[in-house]
Amino acid sequence: MKTPSAFYKPLAIGAPEPFREIPVSLERMIHFVPPHIEKMRAKVPDLIEKVDVVLGNLEDAIPADAKSDARNGFIQMARDNDFGSTGLWTRVNCLNSPWFLDDIVEIVGAVGEKLDVVMLPKVEGPWDIHYLDQLLAQLEAKDGLSKPILIHAILETAEGVKNVEQIAAASPRMHGMSLGPADLAASRGMKTTRVGGGHPDYAVLSDADDGGARAAYQQDLWHYTVGKMVDACLSYGIKPFYGPFGDFSDPAACESQFRNAFLMGCLGAWSLHPTQIGIAKKVFSPDAGEVEFARKILEAMPDGTGAVMIDGKMQDDATWKQAKVIFDLAKLVASKDADMAVIYGF
Ligand code: GLV
Ligand code: MG
Repeated sequence: MKTPSAFYKPLAIGAPEPFREIPVSLERMIHFVPPHIEKMRAKVPDLIEKVDVVLGNLEDAIPADAKSDARNGFIQMARDNDFGSTGLWTRVNCLNSPWFLDDIVEIVGAVGEKLDVVMLPKVEGPWDIHYLDQLLAQLEAKDGLSKPILIHAILETAEGVKNVEQIAAASPRMHGMSLGPADLAASRGMKTTRVGGGHPDYAVLSDADDGGARAAYQQDLWHYTVGKMVDACLSYGIKPFYGPFGDFSDPAACESQFRNAFLMGCLGAWSLHPTQIGIAKKVFSPDAGEVEFARKILEAMPDGTGAVMIDGKMQDDATWKQAKVIFDLAKLVASKDADMAVIYGF
């Protein structure tokens, strides 16, 4: 373990100081773009207006013979656009792939100043973060970058889940992490063939003694992992996210999976299809009724102490803190999203 003072020292001479706090930014949807396809790159200016984060995907779903085109396409789209307050991320190939080193070295060298976050797949433990941390510091120093590039881990292996707390704590460069249910299912030997979401056979039956047909209630396959990830992230001051939902023909199930993650503490999810942008925006912007109720709590308890009744419900210091989470998030949403600002009445 590093000493606390060493933890915040740059890892290379000339690299920028690590952030003490993750910069505040709205990241309701991380929108995946396949950057080797020119038609997709052409949509980026429009996406910048619509989404909170644009991510150039270099890893899974990009064919092996298109890996270098995807890397070059990402550099091109980063150069061609002004991203304003919209985040620019890339998902690089995993550490043991033949493409990772060139992904990092070429992208940071070409467009490091514009890059906010590197999403690192298949993170197994803190050693993976330490390696990328050191490499990024060396490249930042070499290229004279002014701000640190953050790391976002994908939690998608059994070993990663086992080590999730050490991953969250590995570096001040940690931005957060996303659940990767597809790779995680494979790594755990789960008997599914889906990208996220539930499974009709993962259910509990009602009791047998009622004489009639027994109801089966589907359970959330991801509840345990999301809970473990949220606790690891929040205890280290970094951000938890749900990842992908692969069934584009089932927006209701996508919305339900995103909402479960939101209620449990996640701040966003991946959008892999244009229809999922609106779903994520709806789910990860707090509900206007909840925001109004939160406002009532905050106004009724200006110093956050004591107990009051509002609409028949007891409020105290703990509900004041919950209200503050919702109200602060609503303010952040309103600062970027004019439509939501009107809905919240800000
Ligand atoms: C995402 O990368 C996943 O494996 O679900
Ligand atoms: Mg994956």
